[in-house]
Amino acid sequence: MFSKGKCEVKYELLDNASESNPSSIKRSCLPKISTFILGLVILMYILFIFPKIRKEISTQYRYPKPIGPKPKNHEAATKSPPPSKVCNIEVENGPLVKVGSYRTYVIASYMDHRYGPRQITSVAIAHRYEDVPYHCMMCCEGGNISSTRAWRSIHSDHYNFDYGTADISCKFSPDCSSPTHVAITSSDQAGSITSFQPIQNLVIPKSFPFNFTVCISVMFHYSKVLNVIQAMEMFKLLGVQRVAIYISSCSSETQRVLDYYVKMGFVELIPWTVEDYIKVSMGWQKDKSPGELHYHGQVPALNDCVYRYMYQSHYVALQDLDELILPLNVKTWTELLQELEKMHGTEVGFEFENNVFPFTAKAQMKYDQKIWEKIEGINVLKYVDRIPVNPHVFNNIKVIVNPRLVLEATVHGLLKTVNGHSTVRVNHDIARMYHSKNIDYPSDTKLIRDERLLEYAKDLIPAVSKVLQDCGFIKT
Ligand SMILES: *[C@@H]1O[C@H](CO)[C@@H](O)[C@H](O)[C@H]1NC(C)=O
Ligand SMILES: *[C@@H]1O[C@H](CO)[C@@H](O)[C@H](O)[C@H]1NC(C)=O
Repeated sequence: MFSKGKCEVKYELLDNASESNPSSIKRSCLPKISTFILGLVILMYILFIFPKIRKEISTQYRYPKPIGPKPKNHEAATKSPPPSKVCNIEVENGPLVKVGSYRTYVIASYMDHRYGPRQITSVAIAHRYEDVPYHCMMCCEGGNISSTRAWRSIHSDHYNFDYGTADISCKFSPDCSSPTHVAITSSDQAGSITSFQPIQNLVIPKSFPFNFTVCISVMFHYSKVLNVIQAMEMFKLLGVQRVAIYISSCSSETQRVLDYYVKMGFVELIPWTVEDYIKVSMGWQKDKSPGELHYHGQVPALNDCVYRYMYQSHYVALQDLDELILPLNVKTWTELLQELEKMHGTEVGFEFENNVFPFTAKAQMKYDQKIWEKIEGINVLKYVDRIPVNPHVFNNIKVIVNPRLVLEATVHGLLKTVNGHSTVRVNHDIARMYHSKNIDYPSDTKLIRDERLLEYAKDLIPAVSKVLQDCGFIKT
């Protein structure tokens, strides 16, 4: 069962619990003794079980619906320190705010310092054939609302789906000092604003909290607890401080793991509710996987991540959870990037060759962990044979890049950068990507034994076991 459903079930449970209060039971004509026992049971429930369920619900990940009527009371309202209204209009922090009656959905808005001090870029998903007279409505210091025309640019990697990734940009006028919130609208009338979004990246901090942020887009129907933990712990060993996950749905067990990492400050979850508004495709080929938007909206999510971490992280890695970029001569990304920038300078991003390690190959039992057996997922340490790379077909490379260089990111690389430099392909003797997955390959394939990952095993195994324990999946 997946979280979205689970939340609903839990709320039902809660509702039932509040309905079955003693007064409703009085109505039945039970003998006194059983009434007493029943009362006792209810009392126990209220004292012990109910708080537990409540607690579980409070740590349960929410999927706020950012448009349409606000949720009545529960969730959203509970923890929201930022102002709920600015310039007398409600603030909406979640991704996907609809632009009027148009088929444009704004994910988030950012000050874009790379174009001088007065430009805002909103990352959005827009219907490519719909022409919208976009405006930026800004809430300025002193509570005045200022309006300017905005323009949009659709990224070229829309794969012919109706919707594409859009950057909606505007300059704000000098009469608007320090805007803090913006609304993308289809008219310059203040009445057209349904909500304001905070403008992120308002100031460039003196130092960034993170060296490396991994952007994972999009997690849906995910249930491989062991793999998510192995990925997180490998990222840590590589020198990553933050993983941003655009999450659409996952199993309750995965949710428990993610909550654990969120609490530690290692993971940020960005609710990805795009399926509620747009028919997303399960793939990238429109004829094979019909829909209105490429693969769950992976591309707009990646681009949002680049902006979101632009001034928080020195580098971002745009990749999936089943992929690990491993340096071959040093241990961490920190050392690797130093090595690469020494060779190629700091004005470029780096792309890493995809190498597939099929789970259909023979498992190596050296690092098999008996205590992990019951956990859903596959121990990647058991798969050390890779399919040779075919130099004649496109390689599904992934990148690590300084996000401030990126104008447009795509799944395998960058479309536009501030300086026009494309990414440098890193020699596979320096680093390459280890991509473990379920995949069939021709029976005459000569797999290549590659045990680089195993050199992390002695650190990885205890780290994974500890998380499994902390989350209550295994006993000590
Ligand atoms: C707000 O707008 C009014 C009318 O345009 C103007 O007189 C006032 O100076 C503005 N306030 C600020 C703080 O900009
Ligand atoms: C980032 O890397 C540097 C080494 O280049 C290290 O000294 C520093 O502690 C790292 N920052 C974080 C937040 O881990």
